[in-house]
Amino acid sequence: MSNAHVGSRIVGWGSNLPEKVLTNNDLADGGLDTSDEWIYERTGIRQRHVGGSTGEMSIHAGQQALDVAGVTGADIDLVIVATSTPDQLMPGTSATVHAELGIGGGACDMQAVCSGFSYALVAANGLIATGLERVLVIGADSLSPYVDWDDRSSAILFGDGAGAAVLERHTERTLLSFDLGADGTSRHIGYTDHDGKITMDGKEVFRTAVRAVTKSAQNAIDSAGLTIDDIDWFVPHQANVRIIEAIAQRIGLPMEKAIVTIQNTANNSAATIPIALDTAVRDARVQRGDTLLLGGFGFGMTWASAVMKWDPRD
Ligand code: ACO
Repeated sequence: MSNAHVGSRIVGWGSNLPEKVLTNNDLADGGLDTSDEWIYERTGIRQRHVGGSTGEMSIHAGQQALDVAGVTGADIDLVIVATSTPDQLMPGTSATVHAELGIGGGACDMQAVCSGFSYALVAANGLIATGLERVLVIGADSLSPYVDWDDRSSAILFGDGAGAAVLERHTERTLLSFDLGADGTSRHIGYTDHDGKITMDGKEVFRTAVRAVTKSAQNAIDSAGLTIDDIDWFVPHQANVRIIEAIAQRIGLPMEKAIVTIQNTANNSAATIPIALDTAVRDARVQRGDTLLLGGFGFGMTWASAVMKWDPRD
């Protein structure tokens, strides 16, 4: 097969959330000076799942994606785990996934914070164009150990989870375009030191995210030769529903076309986009032939947008 005709498509998907749920009321009842009403109005969040290790959640989400694809770990040429909360500093969490899922090929982690899954998806597409057959892409984060549970401005926002996709070689390109970006001079507005807790300037993150994703999403739509009316579903990073609404309004997309899962999951970083995708495919909102806009941002700041045709195997 000549590389000029090599594309890729998603043929498997999955997600995993830890069993333990912390509701907004649990946080307020536990002594945090906040309320369910304040959190829901300002963020769209009702609850978060906590307690899973990044490796464990990745294995469950990855296995689901393999099952949907009808393949085993041995059929996978590379597993990429996008995470900023690896279970150990080294080796990468991808090594755990490699062992437990019996991955046939290579394994590596990718760190682009909440944009990680989209960065990894674009990288996987490129690696398939240069010869790989099948890549398992996982976005997974266990943020709860890094949350300062006494800081009401950040404790309300985060949770744990994982989502996964199997990308496979295909005769058509389904990744129509992408836009990857970063502004490293903004890395002080959100960070976590070794042995530290999540520290951020929430208002500045909000402003930067809206500005960056709006521009990036527009770039990706333009590069695909499409307009906003061609987008069937926006699958955004779930950090704050008001951020999603602000971006949707700026790019001219009705909110009914945005997949919103934040009420159940809060922000579990690299996991939010694949979890939202898995949710919308399983509840049959996303249908074959639909055009998806993936859009996210993370500390760094990093951002990533991708326009994809949804074209799984029959
Ligand atoms: N409950 C009740 N009151 C609160 C809470 C809370 N949980 N948190 C803050 N407040 C108070 C503040 O103290 C302030 O009170 P004051 O007016 O008396 O000073 C008031 O509410 C307003 O606070 P703001 O900070 O102005 O609230 P805002 O509407 O900006 O919402 C928030 C804060 C939710 C953090 C918002 O700025 C946000 O979501 N920012 C984006 C954060 C984000 O997405 N981070 C993750 C990035 S992705 C990644 O890479 C991990």
